[in-house]
Amino acid sequence: QAIYLSDYRPPAYRVTHTELTFDLDPAATRVKARLHVERHPEREAGEALELDGEQLTLKSIAIDGQPLEEDEYQLTEQGLRVARVPSRFLLDTEVEIAPERNTALEGLYRSGGMFCTQCEAEGFRRITFYPDRPDVMATFSTTVIGDAASLPVLLSNGNPVEKGELPNGRHFVTWEDPHPKPCYLFALVAGDLKKVEDHFTTMSGRDVTLQIWVEEENLGKTDHAMASLKRAMRWDEETYGREYDLDLFMIVAVNDFNMGAMENKGLNIFNSAAVLTHPDTATDAAFQRVEGIVAHEYFHNWSGNRVTCRDWFQLSLKEGFTVFRDQSFSADVNSAPVKRIEDVSFFRTAQFAEDAGPTAHPVRPDHYIEIGNFYTLTIYEKGAEIVRMLRNLVGWEAFRRGSDLYFSRFDGQAVTIEDFVSCMAEASGHNLDQFMLWYSQAGTPEIDAHGEYDYARAEYRLILRQRTPATPGQPDKQALHIPIRLGLVGTKSGRDLALTLDGESLGRDAVIHLREDEQEFVFTDLAEAPVPSLARGFSAPIKLNFPYSREDLAFLLANDSDGFNRWDAGQRLSLLALDDLIAAHRNGVEKVMDGRVIEAFRTLLTGDTDDKAVLAEMLTLPSEAYIAEQQPLVDVDAIHAARQFVKQSLARTLRDEFLAVYQANRDDSPYAPEPDQIAARSLKNVALSYLMSIEDEEGVELAQQQFEAEHNMTDVRHALTLLTHSSRDDLADPALKAFGRKWAHDPLVMDQWFSIQVSRPQADALERVKFLMDHPAFSLTNPNKVRALIGAFAQNRVNFHRLDGEGYKLLADVVIELNRLNPEIAARMITPLTRWARYDETRQELMKAELERIRAEDLSPNVYEVVEKALA
Ligand code: ARG
Ligand code: ZN
Repeated sequence: QAIYLSDYRPPAYRVTHTELTFDLDPAATRVKARLHVERHPEREAGEALELDGEQLTLKSIAIDGQPLEEDEYQLTEQGLRVARVPSRFLLDTEVEIAPERNTALEGLYRSGGMFCTQCEAEGFRRITFYPDRPDVMATFSTTVIGDAASLPVLLSNGNPVEKGELPNGRHFVTWEDPHPKPCYLFALVAGDLKKVEDHFTTMSGRDVTLQIWVEEENLGKTDHAMASLKRAMRWDEETYGREYDLDLFMIVAVNDFNMGAMENKGLNIFNSAAVLTHPDTATDAAFQRVEGIVAHEYFHNWSGNRVTCRDWFQLSLKEGFTVFRDQSFSADVNSAPVKRIEDVSFFRTAQFAEDAGPTAHPVRPDHYIEIGNFYTLTIYEKGAEIVRMLRNLVGWEAFRRGSDLYFSRFDGQAVTIEDFVSCMAEASGHNLDQFMLWYSQAGTPEIDAHGEYDYARAEYRLILRQRTPATPGQPDKQALHIPIRLGLVGTKSGRDLALTLDGESLGRDAVIHLREDEQEFVFTDLAEAPVPSLARGFSAPIKLNFPYSREDLAFLLANDSDGFNRWDAGQRLSLLALDDLIAAHRNGVEKVMDGRVIEAFRTLLTGDTDDKAVLAEMLTLPSEAYIAEQQPLVDVDAIHAARQFVKQSLARTLRDEFLAVYQANRDDSPYAPEPDQIAARSLKNVALSYLMSIEDEEGVELAQQQFEAEHNMTDVRHALTLLTHSSRDDLADPALKAFGRKWAHDPLVMDQWFSIQVSRPQADALERVKFLMDHPAFSLTNPNKVRALIGAFAQNRVNFHRLDGEGYKLLADVVIELNRLNPEIAARMITPLTRWARYDETRQELMKAELERIRAEDLSPNVYEVVEKALA
């Protein structure tokens, strides 16, 4: 059932205008479609018309007003075929669908009392018969009819042009979207919703009405999303010259949603978790996530909607570029170094694991079974890293010219990744042919670097060797064009040395280009021996190995002018210490803490830094997941024990220093999600987690006080996590109980309550999951709940990987149920099991047995594709 990129052909027929009428009913919604169809100019006359359609009951069909006889068309599970059609015609169909039975949350479905849609990638075919592919772009006119009492608000894309009353207590609104769009950007929302309204004046002076639609009880949670939207609109004008193009921009919050949000033209639909915030209910991280996602969806209006994808193999064309844009925006309005550190630590943990596992795929895949499985970290985040490399290769100004060229040349079109890159090549004069390999080659390149300083010649020779490991379907790899940003930090001066390469002076911070399997770079005129600071700012999505000594790393941690690499040096130093301790744990030898790590932390804690946000990151040890990523074979217990040992050793030795940091960063002023406050809170909370790790009286007391003070959700949640993850149930249980009772009415807070308890390291985590699956606030049909409970448990490394296999079994049971209810979520939930090859033999067998058990079911294409790859 696989689909191949190389099979792409333009559609035989295209739709220029689409008229839709929805008569809404939970059990039997009627959808009338009138499509203005014409033959594609490049295709011959006489070809059959093929329309996609799934789970539709056809009620009538006519061409140019003439009803078709039963032998004039064919219906299949996948769609509708009409063998003979004119070159230009009107197609009228009417179908019936059942939104209330739609638990897959693709197409038109119910969420609580409302109706809403999710059409990307292929949900529109569950609404009506249509050429459901992004290279068919039409203007839309949509009439929504519904019960006036229960569905007072009826929304779709574009501008409302007509509304009125109908018999039987029904009413209607007609919407017109003048911008041609693919059907995956279609949206409809109907419900008893309330709005918050604001305005934005665009750079050319047009007034845009901004609306956020929510259920009444959430009216107090929209301020931050609205402020973020206005910031994003301004930023896109100032940074990319992009202006909004309708008079109305709407955001709707829905509780049941598979992903974060969706950029439907003029009517963005959001998972409520990605839009609602309040200081009492959302953490700093949630505030920042909302800001980023609101911006992301807004930015899609140009990078995605005005210029869209020719086919779904090009998904990263819009997602990689748009993630890069939202990352840049967040960096500009918050702490830029911290944003980079957060993004990269997530990337190196999760995307590297994906790229090394059985579902590894290129940023532009060349085949797939189910496109819903390709909304991945590779397409999104690695795609964004590629765009970032492009920006750095050609420089911001040429990049901006390339972006302008791309938007003007391809406005209103459905295009490819080549189209984007060729604009960058054209605007910059760079040859990007070799660079294109980043899109077609999967796997994380590994760079082995070493260097030596020659005193006599005052030269530093840096040798770089690249290798990309084999990935499924791609045994052999070619050399990539890899930009390495670097500095050479003088060991005497502690400063970046002036760089001279092949007689050319490059400044003190430069990019060198690795294009061969192996290359040597000789830097001349160096008066002192340097320690190289390589791949600054994570200048390429690679693994970089350099034989740093711990002294080198401590030196870089103290002296590197690049904040990101200073942080990275600290992580590498901690990782070396952790390696020793993991080995000690496995060999049953006594664990000894590396004094160099303690001294490095002492320096950090007592130095006077102006950047608290970065300091908080530097004081944070690599996560268990990231440590695991560095190990040849993952030993979850040894990793947990080693990390805990480091944390406690640091806490014992530097207790007073941590305490001082905690006290110095307390703040009782009213909560604001502002960079300075966020930085102080994260620093304070990092200190508290060290203090709590040894569970001494003072640490416990501070955590309890912070929990009870209820100053804001960031502090409360952090304290609750520390109490819940402590070894004492007498701390965990009362706090969980109080919190659960207080927030029982708020689903988004209950999600946090679920996650916190099932991620505790104590042995009862799995029993808690089972118990909580019967909690009234839990539901298997709500993706947020599934992620909060089951997803969070699967990230609980010691407990998910229990040696009795019960963790794996629980996950497989859930996947089997979800396979029937919501295939897209089911397929995502399997991910941890697909990583079986990283574990010991016993666990491997247990994990594979569960995958086999899933495979024996009657599987959706989504789950089938993932399980087959995992077991291949
Ligand atoms: N385009 C959306 C975004 O990144 C994601 C939608 C994906 N939806 C899905 N069901 N796979 O903003
Ligand atoms: Zn997106």
